[in-house]
Amino acid sequence: MRKHAIALGGAGLLLGVSLIATQAQMAFAAELPDPPAFAAQSSPVFVGVSDIQEYKALPEYHQPAWMDKFVADGTLPPVAERLPKEPLVFKTGNMPDGVGVYGDVMRHVIGGRPEGWNYIGGQSQGWGGIDIGLSECLTRTGPLFEVKADELEPLPNLAKSWEWSEDGHQLTMHLIEGAKWSDGVPFNADDAMFYWNDNVNDPNVTPLNGATPETFGVGTTLEKVDDYTIKWTFKEVRPTQYLYAMAYGTFCPGPSHILKPQHPKYNTANTYDQYKNAFPPEFMNMPVMGAWVPVEYRPDDIVVMRRNPYYWKTDENGNQLPYLDELQYRLSTWADRDVQAVAGSGDFSNLEQAESYVEALKRSAEPTAPARLQFGARTIGYALRMNFSANGWGEPDARGQAVRELNRQLDFRKAVSMAIDRQRLGDSLVRGPFTAIYPGGLYAGTTFYDKASTVYYGYDVAAANALLDGLGLKDTDGNGVRNFPAGTAGGGDLEVTVLANTDYGTDTNLAEGVIAQLEPLGIRVIANFQTGTARDDMAESGKYDWSVERQGAEMVAVVQGTSALAPTGPRTHPFHRAGTDGTLDLLPFEQELVTDVNSFIATSDATERADLMKKYQHTFTENVYSVGLTQYPGALIVNKRFSNIPVGAPVFMFNWAEDNIIRERVYVAADKQGNFELHPNTLPGAPGSAGPISE
Ligand code: GLA
Repeated sequence: MRKHAIALGGAGLLLGVSLIATQAQMAFAAELPDPPAFAAQSSPVFVGVSDIQEYKALPEYHQPAWMDKFVADGTLPPVAERLPKEPLVFKTGNMPDGVGVYGDVMRHVIGGRPEGWNYIGGQSQGWGGIDIGLSECLTRTGPLFEVKADELEPLPNLAKSWEWSEDGHQLTMHLIEGAKWSDGVPFNADDAMFYWNDNVNDPNVTPLNGATPETFGVGTTLEKVDDYTIKWTFKEVRPTQYLYAMAYGTFCPGPSHILKPQHPKYNTANTYDQYKNAFPPEFMNMPVMGAWVPVEYRPDDIVVMRRNPYYWKTDENGNQLPYLDELQYRLSTWADRDVQAVAGSGDFSNLEQAESYVEALKRSAEPTAPARLQFGARTIGYALRMNFSANGWGEPDARGQAVRELNRQLDFRKAVSMAIDRQRLGDSLVRGPFTAIYPGGLYAGTTFYDKASTVYYGYDVAAANALLDGLGLKDTDGNGVRNFPAGTAGGGDLEVTVLANTDYGTDTNLAEGVIAQLEPLGIRVIANFQTGTARDDMAESGKYDWSVERQGAEMVAVVQGTSALAPTGPRTHPFHRAGTDGTLDLLPFEQELVTDVNSFIATSDATERADLMKKYQHTFTENVYSVGLTQYPGALIVNKRFSNIPVGAPVFMFNWAEDNIIRERVYVAADKQGNFELHPNTLPGAPGSAGPISE
């Protein structure tokens, strides 16, 4: 108790000191306009976790009728034997349209391309929720958008229950018992341990979505107790926060029986590159714990997935899920995802590229429109992120190093912030009430946001130029571009590259806006535009000066992705990581952010948490940790033939809508079913075999 009080006093004191010390820094801070009013079109029905799901054995189980022949001829054991002892059962009362029927397909369209199926080894499956459908994780956060505030805690998933030790340092998790991978091989603690020991804790492996040991806290350990029990030991007391890190995308184990034989630790003939790439997109029927299994791949055309006959979730009537027999992923562009969903030739889109809002809204408002379009809160946000590592991360040349030194100067970041006309930038994407000025940090309208703690350095080009003059950045050769001081990077032109993702029009449009708006400042910003996978690789390996990008869940939910809010570990932060010597070169204000984020993780006291996030927001925005650009709402577009789409499901909150809507529960009523299945009446074949099997 006493310790608690001292800690709080300390935090209050720190806040006081930093306020005085920074009054000078606050010069130039502008009035932050309120975001234009934009009513979200629906709000969720809030429920408790046990209203959504429970684990229990049911008296009988069912499968689609067309699967009976697979059981009759011995290809598959009966459904009851394929399910775990106690399946995860979704409650009827929480299903918006009730118990469903089997059949039909959800036709997704994506702009990404699968690199392969080794998710935990670091390969992307092409996004758009394809990996979310393949990988199941210890806990689950997507559906939390509809969980009551006083019960807000990640949903059990592969971990069906857990308990804390008396002293709060240990968390024992019970894994679902008797569940199987889609090829029938048992899932157990060895899969979790392979993920933890040989992927997260192997510095040569970076799982997709970037899990590192510190994602679960510095000094945290995990051990196997028995086949269905694992035990975490944390340095902190009862850090319930890490339950969020155990959800998508940082604790979703892969099939160790398939992956282990390729891992260099167990197969000395293989390199880490070979491990990562051992399951290319052509490798069909990769075992998964998810509801659908990839059975066909045609490059730049389609990925087809068929129902997992061993899926471990059911409805209350004992119907094995999913209801949808197939999932399709057309390999096209993200812009095409919107077009097709609105037109009805695709079934789903997260409308998130503001440039297409007006057209999509117009078409969806027509009574004959095939799809529903539902706007949510402003949870899509873009920022200009500067590389803060002056320690060798990404091995910059002399110019790159000089840029990083500048990135680390507050006056430089302030100047860049003040050169950006955010209103114009937002309007250039879409006019109307959608976009809001985003100063950086937590998003306006989200739980932990506090306007009074937000410092905004608004548009003021003259002041911005004065700041750069003050840094000794003069145009010494009269070519309109400022020069590095003599002795730095050869006194050359101040050239900065900006990394952006060409898969999304919005990303490159915003980056081009930044390039144009920085010209009057005498900074030559050069486009480094790359396709998604190449961009992500460069961002992951620190090979960039600046990046314009859409941000992750941490700026929305705070409780999801928390360890990425600050450089809490050597590899947890998006734009500041350890260099070649393995250490971070944190600036004093970053150290404050780290302390506050760690304190946030270590407490579950709501008032304390709110205060810590106010302080975080203040430190972040006052120091322009990243240059916020714009934030706006996304809209979920789903074809009208689907049932069980929860009201108020956001495009993006704790996770993307592909998880939020609980796809395994989504169905198409019999009279609305289309003729869209490409491989009707088939199931996944053996791992690595050519395609689906019909019997
Ligand atoms: C991409 C898309 C998002 C969402 C996610 C899911 O990032 O842009 O809308 O579909 O994939 O992984």
